[in-house]
Amino acid sequence: MSGNLRTDQFFNLKYHIKTFGCQMNKHDSERIAGMLESLGALPVETIEESDLVVFMTCCVREAADIRLIGQVSSMKNIPLRKGSPVSKRIIAIGGCIGQRDGQKLLDDLDHVDVVFGTNNLASLPSLLDSAINDHERLAETVEESTMFPTELPTVREHQWAAWLPITIGCNNFCTYCIVPYVRGREKSRPFEDVVKEAQSYVAAGVKEITLLGQNVNSYGRDLYGKPRFADMLEAVAETGIERIRFATSHPKDLTDEVIEKFATLPNLMPALHLPAQAGSNRVLKAMHRVYTIEHYRELVAKLREACPGIALSTDIIVGFPGETEEDFEDTYQLVKDMGYSQVFTFIYSKREGTPAAKMVDNTPRSVIQERFDRLREVVEKGAYDYNQASLGKTLPVLIEGYSKKEQSILTGRSPENITVHVAAPEGSNAHECVGKILDVSIDEAKTWYLRGHFDNA
Ligand code: SAH
Ligand code: SF4
Ligand code: F3S
Repeated sequence: MSGNLRTDQFFNLKYHIKTFGCQMNKHDSERIAGMLESLGALPVETIEESDLVVFMTCCVREAADIRLIGQVSSMKNIPLRKGSPVSKRIIAIGGCIGQRDGQKLLDDLDHVDVVFGTNNLASLPSLLDSAINDHERLAETVEESTMFPTELPTVREHQWAAWLPITIGCNNFCTYCIVPYVRGREKSRPFEDVVKEAQSYVAAGVKEITLLGQNVNSYGRDLYGKPRFADMLEAVAETGIERIRFATSHPKDLTDEVIEKFATLPNLMPALHLPAQAGSNRVLKAMHRVYTIEHYRELVAKLREACPGIALSTDIIVGFPGETEEDFEDTYQLVKDMGYSQVFTFIYSKREGTPAAKMVDNTPRSVIQERFDRLREVVEKGAYDYNQASLGKTLPVLIEGYSKKEQSILTGRSPENITVHVAAPEGSNAHECVGKILDVSIDEAKTWYLRGHFDNA
């Protein structure tokens, strides 16, 4: 990686990464941190303290685009720290907006130094080298990735949890979605590479692995002629890792074999994110989702049979072009029926270059907002009801750290991926809880979290 780099300028260079968007970006940010630190750079908590800021951007909805421009523009007002080795704070933009807009970002934002894309993370050090030493402003994006980011060094955010990408890209072209255009075609990593990486995490004391892909269910189709996701779950489970999760699952490719793994693999956590997007077959068809809502409901019934108590979560888009009141009612009914533990709701956002951007879209904004608010009510009621079932139970909770609000409260995740708050034990051993799986008895069940006490406290 360090090839012809003039590496000394990275030594003690203070960097800060701002990450937007999905787990893929979070994972990529960990690789960027890994590359920078292997060259001697040091992480800092704030932009003020930094010599280099890397924005890892998302363009899945318009709000994310606007936010990025605002944040990058405001950088002009933040003075460079005293004693910085660079003459101006270096600003790099990567991620999905970097991939989509490339050189245009340099043209529009004259204080940005480097733009890179989703397929060439490894180019960042040499682009930074040119920016720091030669004051060159360079944008480099490539259409196809030649390596998986997993080949780069990493600095994981948490020692006990690891993201493990098994595919990159997406072939599904849902009509509203920009992801296939900014992440390229789906590519699977060789089976053995993934298993080896999982084994190395187990050896390093990692407790939870999350397998990542835009549609993990189609893992292996490009390499082996058929999907091998069920085999992959089995192989990762055999490494002895304590907790396995995965995201995301496209309902059209969720097989009975995979569903069965929830019954047979004890370390596969009882939680599944299964984006429905809409409850109306007419809308699903216009979205090019390829399944019917009847099929979706059937999948959920099978999942509940294989794994009673499984926490199901989903994504819903409100206000897709041409959505009628009747279509919305179908979505509302779906959410009401499914008993989701969590629903991510989005108002449709037009993305230039996608097929939906050309569809007639004349539902008034106020109508869409009213539907959205109505849906949120049933989402919250569903989450509250789901959590009530945990009252009085003892759950194994992977402790992640201290609550943002209160230092005396530890916070973690139940197997169902529900946030659990628990009073930290008196004395100095609270730190030792972090990264461990500990039994918590649940005394209180709210909409978005559970609260409990340590069994032995
Ligand atoms: N590959 C994953 C994640 C895709 S992006 C999947 O298929 O589930 C995450 C979510 O953003 C999507 O599930 C969808 O609900 C939402 N989304 C994507 N494009 C959108 C758009 N143009 N407007 C509003 N929401 C969108
Ligand atoms: Fe987008 Fe659909 Fe691919 Fe998910 S499956 S990333 S929603 S195109
Ligand atoms: Fe956003 Fe790119 Fe992920 S557009 S949702 S960061 S794949």
